[in-house]
Amino acid sequence: MSTSLLPNPVVYRGSDDKEFFKEVSAGLLQPQKTLPCKFLYDDCGSELFNQICDLDEYYPTRTETAILHDNIREIAQVIGPGCRLVEFGSGTSTKTRMLLQHLTDLASYTPIDISSGQLFDSCEKLGTDFPALEILPLAADYTDSLQLPESEMPAQKVVAFFPGSTIGNFEPHEARSFLHRIACLCGRGGGLLIGVDLIKDRRRLEAAYNDRKGVTAAFNLNVLTRANRELGSDFDLSSFRHQAIYDAALGRIEMRLVSLRPQVVRLANREFFFDEAEYITTEYSYKYSLSKFTNLAQSAGFEVLNVWVDRNRLFSVQYLGVRSDVHEVYGGLGEKGN
Ligand code: AVJ
Repeated sequence: MSTSLLPNPVVYRGSDDKEFFKEVSAGLLQPQKTLPCKFLYDDCGSELFNQICDLDEYYPTRTETAILHDNIREIAQVIGPGCRLVEFGSGTSTKTRMLLQHLTDLASYTPIDISSGQLFDSCEKLGTDFPALEILPLAADYTDSLQLPESEMPAQKVVAFFPGSTIGNFEPHEARSFLHRIACLCGRGGGLLIGVDLIKDRRRLEAAYNDRKGVTAAFNLNVLTRANRELGSDFDLSSFRHQAIYDAALGRIEMRLVSLRPQVVRLANREFFFDEAEYITTEYSYKYSLSKFTNLAQSAGFEVLNVWVDRNRLFSVQYLGVRSDVHEVYGGLGEKGN
């Protein structure tokens, strides 16, 4: 561990226990029980997710990294000089290093992550490796409305980076409104470099979310451990099992925690009843065709400028430019419009 200080203080806007409690109890009260997937990413969950990224079956990280690696010069050229780079869900910022090395006259870098511990660690390392770079981290839930930390360096444009196909966590109508918010944040001349996982055969998809080592299962179950620790609930971990299934009609992986028996779980003064085989939905991971994603991006105020894919067409990295009519596209269609 290095002992150097962060170049800039982390702006902390983390969600507190009260928020966690409210969202967990609201999710468990729904007819189809759910837990918001962002709660999977506490320090322990983020570490388990890093392990997922190295699994044989989990192709997205490896494939996206290779796409970035193979096309980084062209990507840097398309993005252009003098940008302020803002990353949503930066984690360990591993993929970002390629951009930081190749973008010309980068003005500053703002990593945003809900896991403040991981954010702090990775900024410390980035500060050592990129001493001239202005790093302005934000510990926040990036689905909240955000104000970017003030930068000393003037930028020519704001470019967002949203790798990992994390856009797949959102349901399509949410993805659209989130992308529209990014488009507004970036504004004229700005853009978004985004990783989008592609539709493929069920076997490969389901294997990626049901790894043999059980790391994904541990990652999923960790949300119950977290609730027990932070909220004092009494989930019995041996009474739930991880499940991930691909719904081809909806184009999504759905992760669940399935109750192995009828049971009661206590949280504060409430009791939640589970039938045998009843499940909690914990995460969606939507997969897109290129044309479907183009439509989504357009309806959110972007135009697709470049698409890079691997030779097996497993994954895509896309550069979207903010449309000049970004403020008009959204009006009238309503929250759930498509
Ligand atoms: C971080 C949301 C992109 O959906 O593939 C991986 C999360 N969950 N294995 C994904 C995840 C289980 C991952 N994202």
